[in-house]
Amino acid sequence: METEQLQIQWYPGHMTKTRRMMESDLRLVDAVCEIVDARIPVSSRNPDLDSICGDKPRMIILNRIDMADPARTKQWAAWFKAREMAVIQTDCKSRKGIADFAPALRRLLADKLRRYAEKGMIGKPLKVMVVGIPNVGKSTFINQVAGRKGAKAENRPGVTRGKQWVTVDQGLLLLDTPGILWPKFEDPEVGVRLAFTGAVKDDILDLESLAARLAGVLWRNYPEAMQARYKLDPAPDASDPDLLLEIGKRRGYLISGGEIDLERTSRVLLEEYRAAKIGRFTLELPPAEEM
Ligand code: G4P
Repeated sequence: METEQLQIQWYPGHMTKTRRMMESDLRLVDAVCEIVDARIPVSSRNPDLDSICGDKPRMIILNRIDMADPARTKQWAAWFKAREMAVIQTDCKSRKGIADFAPALRRLLADKLRRYAEKGMIGKPLKVMVVGIPNVGKSTFINQVAGRKGAKAENRPGVTRGKQWVTVDQGLLLLDTPGILWPKFEDPEVGVRLAFTGAVKDDILDLESLAARLAGVLWRNYPEAMQARYKLDPAPDASDPDLLLEIGKRRGYLISGGEIDLERTSRVLLEEYRAAKIGRFTLELPPAEEM
């Protein structure tokens, strides 16, 4: 499944079909819950979701908080809240934050629940859908909130089938089919950040260029952690490729002739970053002027 997800290619016709399906699903739900990757909360969002959703109440699920910088996750939560979205923070692997989902939704939809109560519609369940770009954790999240293991939510874009609902609790149903959306791939920076996290294929840049870019971003944002892991002590004007070379040198990754094995260095850096072995890093900050 993972390989399939990573290789999703979006074509204009495909995007139109997905958008139409989501617009028709939207009529069935009271709120939209958008999962984003807390490490890259800008790049892991779909550029068209605001227009697709119209004025549906929205929730942001900042996922993978186990891998993200806790201080920056807090900043992001405040930023989304200031935009009238409900926000929860989750680590779907350990279930952290999953229990906040239902109460946060009820707070978001309090007016609707009050209207139901006034009309005597006691027990009418709230219905919500989960959306997000591929690989962000939609399927894992749905399984976690539904308290089920193994069962896989239908997870391919544009797949049509009967609507199914999973029960979160007595008054809350979740559409079993997550809305799979495209990232903002016309922005090359977005593509690079998605490649850093492994959400899209590595071939957006060649491996060494991607790893050099990552070395530079991490060094500028988290120098202490990079220093601690790779014993880096670069010259002030070191370029991104210089940083990658130094990592290889410090690790002793050599090929015959004493040259640095840049391919191995690149693989290791990307792997260690993706496994959060260097530290818990968030590569995007909320736009300061809008805070
Ligand atoms: P999708 O439906 O949005 O495409 O994503 P999916 O749930 O399949 O999740 C993609 C990968 O991300 C899965 O790993 C999943 O376990 C992992 N994941 C989801 N949420 C979190 C989280 O909060 N923290 C961490 N650390 N990982 C998360 P996988 O490698 O495909 O499978 P596996 O390692 O679980 O076997």
